[in-house]
Formats: sequence, C-alpha cells, structure tokens
Amino acid sequence: MKMWCQGWLRSLAILLLAALSLEPSQALIGKEKSAVFLSPEFVLGPGSVVDSYYQDIDFPRGHIALKSFNAEVVDETGLPVPLQEIYLHHWVIERYYQRKGVEAPGSSSIKETHNPDFITVRNSGICQDNVLAQYFGLGSETRKTATHVPDPYGIEIGNPVEIPDGYEEKWLLNVHAIDTRGVEDRLGCAECRCDLYNVTEDGHGYPLSSDYKGGLRCCYDKTQCRVKEGFEGIRRSLYMKYTVKWVDWDSSVVPVKIYIFDVTDNWKSSNASTVHRARHNCRVEYDVGSCSITGETEDGCVDVKRTSLTMPTGGHVIYGVSHQHSGGIGSTLYGEDGRIICSSIPTYGEGKEAGNEAGYIVGMSTCYPQPGSVKISDGETLILESNYSSTQKHTGVMGLFYILVAEPSPNPSLLLHSPFDMHANSKVYNSVSAVALLGLAIAAAIVVVYRRRKETEYGYEALVV
Ligand SMILES: *[C@@H]1O[C@H](CO)[C@@H](O)[C@H](O)[C@H]1NC(C)=O
Ligand SMILES: *[C@@H]1O[C@H](CO)[C@@H](O)[C@H](O)[C@H]1NC(C)=O
Ligand SMILES: *[C@@H]1O[C@H](CO)[C@@H](O)[C@H](O)[C@H]1NC(C)=O
Repeated sequence: MKMWCQGWLRSLAILLLAALSLEPSQALIGKEKSAVFLSPEFVLGPGSVVDSYYQDIDFPRGHIALKSFNAEVVDETGLPVPLQEIYLHHWVIERYYQRKGVEAPGSSSIKETHNPDFITVRNSGICQDNVLAQYFGLGSETRKTATHVPDPYGIEIGNPVEIPDGYEEKWLLNVHAIDTRGVEDRLGCAECRCDLYNVTEDGHGYPLSSDYKGGLRCCYDKTQCRVKEGFEGIRRSLYMKYTVKWVDWDSSVVPVKIYIFDVTDNWKSSNASTVHRARHNCRVEYDVGSCSITGETEDGCVDVKRTSLTMPTGGHVIYGVSHQHSGGIGSTLYGEDGRIICSSIPTYGEGKEAGNEAGYIVGMSTCYPQPGSVKISDGETLILESNYSSTQKHTGVMGLFYILVAEPSPNPSLLLHSPFDMHANSKVYNSVSAVALLGLAIAAAIVVVYRRRKETEYGYEALVV
C-alpha cells in the first residue's frame, strides 16, 4: 500500500512538474507565497474616527507558516494615504475559531458575551483576557517596519490537529484610524485627547473620570475630533491593504511563538512561586507628563518607564520590535543579568509623502539576532524599558514589545541550512520529498478561491489593540 501510494504520488508529481514545464530543481517546494488583500471599505471625513472589527477577513487558508504581514491605508485608487491625512492609530489581526454553520454576530460582541461559538487563539504572551491577543499589529510605523520571519522559522497556523472539531479557523482585523485633515490639533487628535473629542462617556457608555485625559476611551468608533472653524473636506473611502507572505507547512519549518509584552503590565512579582498564577493587568496605554511641569532640565526630558516580566518558557529570540507612539525615543528588552535582548528605535519622517511624514514615527528598527545567539531561559525575569521625550505631555502612548521565540531545536543541523532553498535533486524519491511532493500535488491541484465576504463589523470590550 505504502509503495503504491508513493509510486502514485511520484507519477502525479512528475506529471504536474511536466505540465508546469519546470525542472525538478525549480520545483515549488517550500517556496514563499504572497497575496495582497483589501479590507472592507471605511469612510472618513475631517476629524472622524473609525475603530472597526472586521471578522472573517480574506486570509491564506490551510496548514501554513506565516512569514510576514504588512499593512497600510490606501484610498479608492489604491494609492497610499499619508499619516497627516489619515493617522493610523493601529491595526491588529487576531486568530479565532468559529463554530461551523454559526452566523457571525452583527453588532453583538464575540467576547463580551463569552460566546462559545467563537474562540480567540491568543499569542503566547502573558497579558490576559484577550488584551494584546493579536498575531501581528502596528500603527503609524507600519510602512517601514520589517515583519518578516527569517528562514527556517515560521508562525504555524491552520494545523487541522489543533482546530477543535466542528470549528474553522478565521481571522479578524481591527483598524483604528483618525482623519486629521483640518483638525485644530493634529497631535492632540492622534493622542485621543478627551477635550478635543468632547466626550464624557467611553464607547461602552461608562462615564470618564476627570483625571482620564486621553486614550482609546475617548476616540472610539464614530467619535469626532475638533476641526478648525470653516474647514471643509470631502468624506473619503479608504481601505487597509495588507500583504501576507507564507510557506506551506512542512517538517523543515521551525515554529516560533509570539510574545507581546506591555510596559504598563503591573502584575505583582513579590513571590516567584506565584508567577504563573499572577494576574497580569496590561493597560496598554499610559500618559507622559511634561518635564516643564515636573521641573527637569531640558536634556533630562526623558520619561523612562520600566517593568519586570517573567518569561514562562524560554528559547531563542528570532525577531524583536517595539511599538511606540509619537514622542517615543526607543525601547529595550533586557535579560535578568542586564544583557540587551533587543533594542528597537523609532525613525521619524521628514517630508510629506506616505512613509516619510514629518513628526510621525514611520518605522521601528527590528532585531534579527543570529539564531541561537540570544537565549532566554525558562522563567527568566526580563526588564522592559520604554523611553519617551517629555518636552511636552503625551496621552495614550504605548510601550509594547513583540518577540518571536523558537524553542531550542532538538536537531541543530536543521539550522545550518535553509530548507526553503532545498532543491529536488537525485534523492527526490526519499520519503521527505514524497511528503513535499504531496504538498506540491495538492497545491497545484487545488485552486484556492478566496471567498468575498460580506462586510461585518462589531465591537467588543476586551480587545484593546
Ligand atoms: C460638546 O458636546 C455637547 C454635549 O454633547 C454639545 O452640546 C456641544 O455642542 C459639544 N461641543 C462642541 C464644540 O462640539
Ligand atoms: C510564596 O507563596 C507561597 C504560596 O502562597 C507561600 O507558601 C510562600 O511562603 C511564599 N513565599 C514567600 C517568600 O513569600
Ligand atoms: C532610556 O533612558 C535611559 C535613561 O536615560 C537610558 O539609560 C536608556 O539607555 C534609554 N533606553 C533607550 C532604549 O533609549
């Protein structure tokens, strides 16, 4: 049976290769694929805000390894829209399982109702309650921040063994953008300063206390930031354009886990034995006071915020990046012994064009340590540090840090060459290649049709960026 099966596969694969006029050495095995998608349309006029959750977005399907995810705001003609016009506060994508045959809820929330038909698949980070549960997410820095996962690593998704019976895997996109054309105070609108939004309640109808000066609770969906007297601007149709890269899953891909740390996480670390039971309170946003009020000298105008966090399971760091808002001057993740695990520094734009907008963070530097060179131990306590300029006050800033971690490989030789450069050669008939050829046969035989999905939009409490 096994022999017959392999022979059949071989014949099919050879036929396919012939049909594709490819030499075996140019076979598609392990080749990176890429697709570009558009989110549902959102419409913004001067001062207005969108904070939408698009459910079941177009996404590559099947058992694959994600290699990168990039996104930006474009207009109806597909042209990138600069940040002075549309400030991209953030976008995030989340993975979830939806029970088959169940209609997606309209305006009612998946998580508020703890609906068992929808299960969020969190990243491996230590925040709780669906806070910072995303797989990818960035803001204004999206155009110049690398997200690619180097070979031989990948983020494994769509493994049928992991998807609960009766469910299917789907993806959710949250887009939060603010149209700052003609507004009185661009930075103030971007920092969601409550006085500019003239709101007294948050998006769920809870009253805002007078000491809450700014942040997401003041710039929720359909709020309006103050526009200059007499300013007129058309309402525009906009989209998130996102590019996903992936490879088909195969045993040579080394899986990485996603961890997101938050500098505002104020869990208590007094007793090591309770670390795993600690309540993490990731508040995501914080404020930076102006140093002219706190009385520091000009060159001391740096707000340094630190927190210590425990990494439950260690491994090798493959990638690192931080997320900061305007005013950010860098963030570093340190090991318990003070060594630098990754330092991520913002780039500010200098012009007007999309990707180089003056005064905005247009990119964050990333870390790609040589695999195996930066290791975090199981249970190691890390220090996260986020620095902001405090020459002026800021509300609703963030200090997040993403890292990708690979558990040490049981077979170090796997790391010595990239399996994605692997050629089909004279040893093509070994069993590994047979599996790869099966993948090829399936890939070539199936025409993947990305369903057009009707726009569904809903909001829910717990997901904060
Ligand atoms: C602010 O909101 C109040 C009550 O909702 C409204 O009466 C007032 O006109 C608003 N002010 C501005 C400047 O929009
Ligand atoms: C830590 O917590 C455990 C269980 O609550 C307790 O038995 C132990 O004494 C605590 N250790 C310290 C150093 O407080
Ligand atoms: C943050 O500021 C502190 C104090 O000035 C400094 O020691 C540290 O290197 C800074 N870190 C980053 C990432 O800028």
